[in-house]
Amino acid sequence: MPNTSVEQILSRPALSKDELAYFLTTRNKQEKHEIFLRADKVKRQYLGNQVFLRGLIELSNICRKDCYYCGIRRSNEGIDRYTIDRDEAVDLAMYAWKKGFGSVVIQSGERTDKAFVDMVTDILQGIKQKTGNELGITLSCGEQSRETYRKWFEAGAHRYLLRIETSSEELYHKLHPSDDIHSFKSRMECLESLKKSGYQVGTGVMIGLPFQTAEDLAGDLLFFRNQNIDMIGMGPYVSHPETPFAKFSKFILPESERLDLSLRMIALARVLLKDVNIASGTALQALDRNGRIKGILSGANVFMPNLTPEDCARKYLLYKDKPVMTDRAEQTIKNLEDSLATFGQVIGYGKWGDPKHYFKRIMNN
Ligand code: 5AD
Repeated sequence: MPNTSVEQILSRPALSKDELAYFLTTRNKQEKHEIFLRADKVKRQYLGNQVFLRGLIELSNICRKDCYYCGIRRSNEGIDRYTIDRDEAVDLAMYAWKKGFGSVVIQSGERTDKAFVDMVTDILQGIKQKTGNELGITLSCGEQSRETYRKWFEAGAHRYLLRIETSSEELYHKLHPSDDIHSFKSRMECLESLKKSGYQVGTGVMIGLPFQTAEDLAGDLLFFRNQNIDMIGMGPYVSHPETPFAKFSKFILPESERLDLSLRMIALARVLLKDVNIASGTALQALDRNGRIKGILSGANVFMPNLTPEDCARKYLLYKDKPVMTDRAEQTIKNLEDSLATFGQVIGYGKWGDPKHYFKRIMNN
């Protein structure tokens, strides 16, 4: 970019779609270096040096949706479906609490039946009661009615993550069947409904999808800002052989480039959005065994150790080579702690680590 230094451009309060697309793709090493430097600076300035832990519980791989890219899609008959029962889910959350994780994320395939809605409510109440309201809870259980969102909020969940998957409506239609339960419009309405219900709201996208352009991804970053969202969870697309999208796997970027693109997305999200929470997701780990730590060092501030019991985690295969991690092994956290220390960062044990952006958003509303 002639005449203006990269640092100057990245320090502006706003960046254009073209500028973002440029930074997502530049092959100039110095420019790339400046992106990560700026992300690190912004992260320290706005959030300090703490990284927050969320114990991840993959509650069920039963899903009513049929997304073309996802391994647990309804039509995939090759997988064993499971649901962790109420008591086991509460026990996993108790484990997180005792380890000082601060929060848990309960993630699940999308189910809207009463039995499921009631079970989640019961789990939330159980966790709140057994931890004396000390453990923060994020839900990631897909599109639900406003009533269900309210019910879960009242039962104790205070954050909700619902990925938009892509903010390009055109690409969204390529990724999903065209029917009532896969509509872009409903997804947008759910994000709105979550905000109205009082949640700290997160969204995110997949990176390196077939047909996706740098402009689409730049548009996603602007979407996060325009939607005033509090949290971001995004990661690389990884093909799954038992999905309709597997046929496009030869058209996607090689793994190392998809990883690089994902890390740039994290860094640019930090530069643009500043005070939001950004998670370093599991899919990064599928492309690189230090993927999640690289995410943290690129601007993310939330790390999600997977607490799902191994037999279930093996069945929660959203994509190929999803690492079956049971981070209950002390070693994962120890490794994270050691790597963070090298970069002057620490784990915020026992803290909820709510996104600062949320408090600003509700003050201004
Ligand atoms: N690659 C990467 N992420 C995926 N997800 C689903 N399938 C894949 C895939 N093949 C992500 C989606 C979804 C979340 C539960 O998992 O973003 O929202």
